[in-house]
Amino acid sequence: MMDEEATSAQLRQAALDLEEKYRATVELSPAMHWVADAKGRLIDVPERLTTLTGLDRDQLLGDGWQQLIHPDDLAGVIEAREAALRADQGDGIEFRARLKAGAYRWMRTRAQPRYDAEGRVVRWYGAAEDITDRREADTALREMTATFEERIAARTAELEAVMRERKAVQAGRAELEQRFAIFIEEVSDYAIMMLEPDGLIANWNTGAERIKGYTAREVIGKHFRTFYPPEAQAAGLPEWALKTAIERGRFVHEGWRVRKDGSCFWASVVLQPIHDENNQLLGFTKITRDITERREAQRALDEAREQLFQAQKLEAVGQLTGGIAHDFNNLLQAIGGALYLIRRRHLQGRTEEVVQLVDHALSATDRAASLTHRLLAFARRQPLDPRAVDANALIRNALQLIQGTIDAEIELKLDLDPALWTTFCDPHQLEAALINLAVNARDAMRGGGSLTISTRNSAAKADSDDEQIAIAVTDTGIGMEQETVERAFEPFFTTKPIGHGTGLGLSMIHGFAHQSLGRVTLESTPGKGTTATIWLPRHLGPAEPLEPVDRDEDVDRAAERKVVLVVEDEPLVRELVTTMLDEMGHNVVAADDGLQGLKVLRSSRRIDLLLSDIGLPGLTGRKMVEAMRPLRPDLPVILMTGFAHEVEQADKPLGAHVSLLPKPFTMSALTDRVRSVLEDQEG
Ligand SMILES: Nc1ncnc2c1ncn2[C@@H]1O[C@H](COP(=O)(O)OP(=O)(O)OP(=O)(O)O)[C@@H](O)[C@H]1O
Ligand SMILES: [Mg+2]
Repeated sequence: MMDEEATSAQLRQAALDLEEKYRATVELSPAMHWVADAKGRLIDVPERLTTLTGLDRDQLLGDGWQQLIHPDDLAGVIEAREAALRADQGDGIEFRARLKAGAYRWMRTRAQPRYDAEGRVVRWYGAAEDITDRREADTALREMTATFEERIAARTAELEAVMRERKAVQAGRAELEQRFAIFIEEVSDYAIMMLEPDGLIANWNTGAERIKGYTAREVIGKHFRTFYPPEAQAAGLPEWALKTAIERGRFVHEGWRVRKDGSCFWASVVLQPIHDENNQLLGFTKITRDITERREAQRALDEAREQLFQAQKLEAVGQLTGGIAHDFNNLLQAIGGALYLIRRRHLQGRTEEVVQLVDHALSATDRAASLTHRLLAFARRQPLDPRAVDANALIRNALQLIQGTIDAEIELKLDLDPALWTTFCDPHQLEAALINLAVNARDAMRGGGSLTISTRNSAAKADSDDEQIAIAVTDTGIGMEQETVERAFEPFFTTKPIGHGTGLGLSMIHGFAHQSLGRVTLESTPGKGTTATIWLPRHLGPAEPLEPVDRDEDVDRAAERKVVLVVEDEPLVRELVTTMLDEMGHNVVAADDGLQGLKVLRSSRRIDLLLSDIGLPGLTGRKMVEAMRPLRPDLPVILMTGFAHEVEQADKPLGAHVSLLPKPFTMSALTDRVRSVLEDQEG
């Protein structure tokens, strides 16, 4: 029994130890351990619960603990206990329990049943723990998660919206791209293609096929140099084109390209590089047009223009040569005629007459020289000899020359400003210019009129450099259309028939005026007349005296200038006689047969003397005189004749105012005769 007692003591002690151990564990555990009976009523309350709640053990035993539970949670807790009792198993349940301070804490409790030998639940052992911190953390986490989710949802929605939008845009763009592709594909006037960065053809439109002859299948993947002629390929033109396009952003070019069939066309090419957002070269667009036709048209036009220009040039040269040839011919005729006569006189031993003939030839030489001068002046190759000039004096001095130039029917008037400033220019050129203007005026006044030479100081501001004098030559002639005024200064422009104008007069004056720092202007009204004005710069300082002009004594008598009608069919003689009379200071009207002569005589033109050959073709000299007599009863007539029978008939009555001059006659004989006849006439 001792053993039994010892054993039971040992057992008691062991139980006590266990209880001690249990309590220590419970005390140390954060959980509060409780014990309930089979119905779930508390039979043991954890020490800590009384401390935490401030309630007594008795107040908590049984269902007393229920007073701690948050009213909202109580039903759930009771329900959970019922469920646990039914299932013999207590799952964790969470609830709020009121602590001493009145604040609620979240608790979680679990329970495990204890069974008796028959397997019936006799006890529930449970543990409750404060899970407030965990719950708060959970809540925070949950809240955080919720916020996250919300955000994610919102963001997702946003993204979705963006994606939807982008998709729509992409769809639109795809549509546009597709349409554009179709459009490009259908363009047939332009070869449009894309090239890879290395120049390989990436795509090809209908236009390219039409222009170049290759189908897309044949050409895609080939290098675009295929279209260049071999020389251009050899010269590296295709590579250069790509390089230029990259460097300059664009390559524009015209040149020959080759079609599939080997034929060539003139292409206009625009090559442009395409880059992505990162400036990476994606390739090139290339637009080519076949402009062969346009180029041909342009070339034809250029050619036509060139031809026209050549034709105009030829016309000008033709006019020039025509005019100059005619003028030179006349002069050569005069010179040649004189030389011929000199030779004759020499052989005849009539040397005293030679001097006059030499003078005659010299005068023709002078004229030829002056013609050459005009050409030089036009070419502005003439050296000028500018001096301080009194233009009024110069005009007065040149008056006789001018008067000799114009017809007798033309009235010459002067309107010179006595206070005219001195100017600075080449006086000989100024004189030549005035004579040229007078000739133009004469040609414009075939039916008579008046020519006025006027001078004035130009109305320029005082103290300025542009003080000028103006010398104006005004006629009452036919005037000019605007187009003529515009072209009048052009060299070789003339409206006069060949032999009557070289078209150099005004261009020469223009050249002279500009060389003299002046200018020349034209004002003209068709049917009314023309004023040509030479503007020259003012010169401060006195004018140099004009060089004495070496005038022929016959010309000095120009005041007694007469109009002589010369009718002669032999050109050489006509020229000689004309020149002779001209030098005597007379105006000559020439006719080369009797009918022409009669026509002049029947006109209202002023004629002071008729000098005619007798042996004229058609109407003889005598017949012509008879025919005109009723119209001009007092006109003195000198009949020239070289035929013996005509001389024999000299005793036949010649009629009043008619004298005979037998050929050959000397020039001085002619001069003497003309002078005496005219003097008789006046006297
Ligand atoms: N006073 C004028 N009245 C009408 N037309 C004029 C006058 N002056 C010049 N013209 C026109 O201008 C053209 C050019 O004149 P310009 O003096 O240069 O040459 P031209 O008189 O024809 O020949 P050139 O003077 O060489 O003998 C003339 O042919 C004429 O048509
Ligand atoms: Mg002229």
